[in-house]
Amino acid sequence: MNTSLPLIIDCDPGIDDAVMLMIALMSQKLDVQAITTVAGNVPLRLTSRNARMICERMGCSDVPVYAGCPRPMLRKPVTAEDFHGESGIEGIEIFAPKAPLAPGHGVTELIARLSVAAPASQTVILSGPMTNLAAALVMAPEIAASISHLVVMAGGDEIGGNITPFAEFNVFADPHAAAIVFDAGIRTTVLSLDVTHTVRSGPERIAGLRRIPGPEAKMMADLLAASNNLEARWKNGQMAPMHDPSTVVYLLAPEIFEVKPCRVSVVTRPGAGFGRTRVKDTRRGPHAWVTAADADAFFGVIEDLLKGRA
Ligand code: BDR
Ligand code: CA
Repeated sequence: MNTSLPLIIDCDPGIDDAVMLMIALMSQKLDVQAITTVAGNVPLRLTSRNARMICERMGCSDVPVYAGCPRPMLRKPVTAEDFHGESGIEGIEIFAPKAPLAPGHGVTELIARLSVAAPASQTVILSGPMTNLAAALVMAPEIAASISHLVVMAGGDEIGGNITPFAEFNVFADPHAAAIVFDAGIRTTVLSLDVTHTVRSGPERIAGLRRIPGPEAKMMADLLAASNNLEARWKNGQMAPMHDPSTVVYLLAPEIFEVKPCRVSVVTRPGAGFGRTRVKDTRRGPHAWVTAADADAFFGVIEDLLKGRA
């Protein structure tokens, strides 16, 4: 019997999205059923190619990749090549994936899959701007009931933003979509900058990965090394945070994180706070804000998966 957790991943690869996909595709505990892509770190054409490249390199070309929205709901598109390179996944050789995009639009595919799922049966990760799920929720609000757990990399509270003093990239890139998703009443765990900035892929972490034999460990080390170079260039020599990988590591090992119940809202009014997440502590939720992670255990989870492939 297959007891692994069925999972849909919506992403914008993105170096850290690529590392996240690798972790998810390596784990026997997760069953990645579909990947939907969105414009974010780089345009949709590239995020859609990049997701398929990672699937192919991981021997998972059978996982369908659906292209979703090519632009945000309302605001002008923003991208993040400075942190991911022109290709979106600096650090590995670019090639044309053998598998084509799966037929159909990412949004209609989300609706199709979630509307036939049993109530509260689906886990969904969002690691880019939330445009696809927001559009799906506008078109078919009833799909919210199928999602048992949404895990998102988004926002920042105590630490502030990474794109403006207050806004984190995924929320800033489509605040209106993030507002729709957070307002949908879905149980959501939020991996924000508050926690991702405490787990960074410094040189000693990468050296640890390089000691593990096998092409996957090398590929992940190369991606993270490239990410560090880009991060250091723009952020005063700092090493890259493990933003998107934290969503999958959370699903695999929630016990290594600390969480508080809350309700998250998003500032969509133009001005200095545009794209800011506001976190109201409330035991009723429906959101859970991750406040801390055990960084050693975090890398331990990843290393164990890579050792299992070696
Ligand atoms: C988020 O923004 C993107 O650049 C990363 O892929 C991550 O999802 C971090 O703010
Ligand atoms: Ca991302």
